[in-house]
Amino acid sequence: MKKIAIGSDHGGFELKEYIIKFIKDSGYKYKDFGIYEKQPTDYPIIAKEVAQNIVDGNFNLGILICGSGLGMAITANKIKGIRAVTCSDIYSAKMSRMHNNANILTLGERVLGKDLALEIVNIWLNTEFEGGRHLNRINMIE
Ligand code: RB5
Repeated sequence: MKKIAIGSDHGGFELKEYIIKFIKDSGYKYKDFGIYEKQPTDYPIIAKEVAQNIVDGNFNLGILICGSGLGMAITANKIKGIRAVTCSDIYSAKMSRMHNNANILTLGERVLGKDLALEIVNIWLNTEFEGGRHLNRINMIE
């Protein structure tokens, strides 16, 4: 079973809580890296911690949520080995796993309805990397 690292700033706090309930109910192991109450927070702090835990091998996949999903992705992608994608649709979520082996999904609470966000999370967690020619391209990125 995959281990998930999840975190948000204040802009993504409510969606994070909603997604955690889904992750928990689905039986995943996870760790919530905060924030733990809704207060203004600098998203790079949370993004860095989650991203570092993934490259260190403590977790398989990460989910980061802010208002737009963008600042979390920009920050996480600064860390070597991280392939963070912001997804607002099912197709991108699926392809980001199949072809890009994305290891962090970022979401925008101010962009997505809760149910769509859950569908995106569900498909992203349940789609595997295809490898093959796509692996060569991932290696080229690295
Ligand atoms: C916070 O207002 C907002 O800037 C943040 O949550 C995020 O959307 C940044 O990319």
